[in-house]
Amino acid sequence: ALPADLDGLNVVVTAGGTRESLDPVRFLTNRSSGKQGYAIARVAAARGANVTMIAANVDFPEPAGAQVVRVSSADQLAEAVRREMGAADVIVMAAAVSDFRPAAYSEAKIKKSELEPDAIELTKNPDILVGLVTSRAQGDIPADCTIVGFAAETGDKQHSVEEYGRAKMARKGADMMVVNSVGDGGAFESDHNSGWILDAVGADEPIEHGSKYALAAQLWDHIGTRRSAR
Ligand code: C5P
Repeated sequence: ALPADLDGLNVVVTAGGTRESLDPVRFLTNRSSGKQGYAIARVAAARGANVTMIAANVDFPEPAGAQVVRVSSADQLAEAVRREMGAADVIVMAAAVSDFRPAAYSEAKIKKSELEPDAIELTKNPDILVGLVTSRAQGDIPADCTIVGFAAETGDKQHSVEEYGRAKMARKGADMMVVNSVGDGGAFESDHNSGWILDAVGADEPIEHGSKYALAAQLWDHIGTRRSAR
C-alpha cells in the first residue's frame, strides 16, 4: 500500500491540452494527452490527498478518488482554476495551455472561400500560472499554497533544458517547475518522461527516465518534503 503522507492535503491538478476554436468544427491544439496530469492526480489521491483534476480534453476515465472538472478552452480552464483555487494547498499546472487563440470565433462554419490561406488572426491567452502567483499575493489563495508549473523544453548550444526551465520558473514566479525534455522523443503522448524537478528555493532534482507514474511519485515526495520543511 502507498503511504497516506498527503492525507487531507487539498490538491488541484490541471491536465491535458486546451482547444481554441475557430468555428464549430475547427480548433487549434497541442500534443498533450493528459497522461502526466492524470498520473499526478491519481498518485496524490492514492496517497490521501483531496484531489480535483481539471481536465482539458482528456480521454481517460476519472482517476480513483479524485473529482474531475472537464473543460476545453484555455478560457474555461482559467475559470475552473479560479473556482477551485481558494482552498488549495498545492496547485500543479500540468496542462498544456494554448498560448494563443483565434482572435474571433465564428458561430457559423467558415467557408473555404472566406479563409485567407496564410492568415488566422490570433490573440494571446492570459497566463494562468502567472495569474495564480498574483492571486496568492493578493490573498485569494492560501499564502502557503505550493504552485507548480510544467515546461516542455529543448536545450541548445547556449542553454540546457534545465537553464531554460529555471529562467521560466523565475519569470512566472512559480515555486517549482517540472521540466520535460522534449527534444529526444520523450513527453508528448508517450508513457515516459525525463527532465528535472526545479525548486525556486532548492536544488535541481533530475528525473530519471521512467514512467509518468514514477515522475508523479517523485514530484509528490519533493512537495511533501518541501512542505514539511517549513
Ligand atoms: O510558457 P509555457 O507555456 O512554456 O509555460 C508552461 C506552464 O505555464 C505550464 O505550467 C502551463 O500550464 C502554464 N501556462 C498557463 N497559461 C498559459 C500558458 C501556460 O498557465 N496561457
